[in-house]
Amino acid sequence: MRIVVLGASGNAGRQICVLLARELSADDHLVLCGRDPGRLAATHALLAGPVRADEAVLDVTDADAVRAVVAGADLVVVTVSRPDLVGALGRIVLEAGADWFDTLLSSPTKLAALRGLQGEIGHHGRCFVTDGGFHPGVPAALVRWAAGHLEEIREADVMAGMRLDWLADTLSDSTVEEMLDEFADFDLAAWVDGESRTLRWSEWPKVDFGPPIGAKTCVPMPLAEMEALPRRHPSLRRCGFYICGFSPVMDYVFLPVLMVLAKAPSLRPLAIRLTRWSMGRFASYPPPHRLVLQLTALGIEDGVPAAATVRVSGDDGYLLTAAPAVACLRRLRDGTIRRPGLHLQAQLVEPDVFLGDLAALGLEVQTRVAPLAGAPEQRAS
Ligand SMILES: NC(=O)c1ccc[n+]([C@@H]2O[C@H](COP(=O)([O-])OP(=O)(O)OC[C@H]3O[C@@H](n4cnc5c(N)ncnc54)[C@H](OP(=O)(O)O)[C@@H]3O)[C@@H](O)[C@H]2O)c1
Repeated sequence: MRIVVLGASGNAGRQICVLLARELSADDHLVLCGRDPGRLAATHALLAGPVRADEAVLDVTDADAVRAVVAGADLVVVTVSRPDLVGALGRIVLEAGADWFDTLLSSPTKLAALRGLQGEIGHHGRCFVTDGGFHPGVPAALVRWAAGHLEEIREADVMAGMRLDWLADTLSDSTVEEMLDEFADFDLAAWVDGESRTLRWSEWPKVDFGPPIGAKTCVPMPLAEMEALPRRHPSLRRCGFYICGFSPVMDYVFLPVLMVLAKAPSLRPLAIRLTRWSMGRFASYPPPHRLVLQLTALGIEDGVPAAATVRVSGDDGYLLTAAPAVACLRRLRDGTIRRPGLHLQAQLVEPDVFLGDLAALGLEVQTRVAPLAGAPEQRAS
């Protein structure tokens, strides 16, 4: 299989290439693409296994260069933080007869561009998977796992806690811009009491993630992958994704300023510099690092109130991004989940297999289904 990775020189792309290379054989060909030869060589040096790997220096704004490198590819993995180019890149990938997988943030720009190609993707029998990675990428898969292990699911809030170094100095300007767009459009909404609405700060949950993260207040963060869940499981009264990970100074001082700056195109360069600086100083932590994604879903099992709990965690933020991506790519490559059309990673993966693959790829995965305290005990696993 010929796999082209656009963005192989970046943090997510590099870790995806490292994990993916271990899964490939001497018959496969991995093409690492980016603008910076030094950063591409650094990714190449980390690859292990028999796969043939080559570097291709290119700028994705050069459509002819992308067309040339994508020709003959079976799969194109996109970790280039350019949602504005997704429509053009997606069309080139379609014309090459390849499948698509991306880890870009779940932005309206990206999703609209891919939905614009949806008809052609299906018509040509291609499989395009978007919102790959950790968030987006995992939260709705956890809810789907819980729904599969409860007779009826009523509440399913997914919580993400982080204590990370955001490596702000290493990020491309376009990655910082993507974050700014997300800050500017941030909508503090979740599915509560059977409806989607914006939550007041007094409603934001405080969650204990254990050491070294501790107890943190989490803010709601809408994700496309979560939207379909209440329709698919009408018994759900609560279902949201909530996240913490910066710091009070970042959340209450810098983020409001950045949200305003982000809306003024002329102030973009200043906003990019301030984002990088503030994330480095007020949102990044020294080791120990930790990233936790956890869900305690409430519902009914064996006729009694029960909880289905799942926790996915690790110490390396980019392993948490790459492992879900490679877990999904593993099942696309073996054909078990590959279907023509446009899919969100968290909605496409088979949850039990996905969690098993995440564990095999180095993440800590714990699951439990048990009656709630006070309910007559019938079964625990
Ligand atoms: N779903 C998730 O859980 C998750 C988690 C983390 C990140 N992400 C997303 O994944 C993407 C990558 O994140 P990251 O942290 O790896 O960012 P990063 O370290 O800044 O990497 C960005 C990559 O894009 C490349 N790039 C940017 N503009 C380019 C251009 N014009 N032509 C060619 N290559 C270009 C960079 O190449 P150069 O080396 O040439 O600059 C680099 O390889 C972002 O969209 C980010 O928002 C998602």
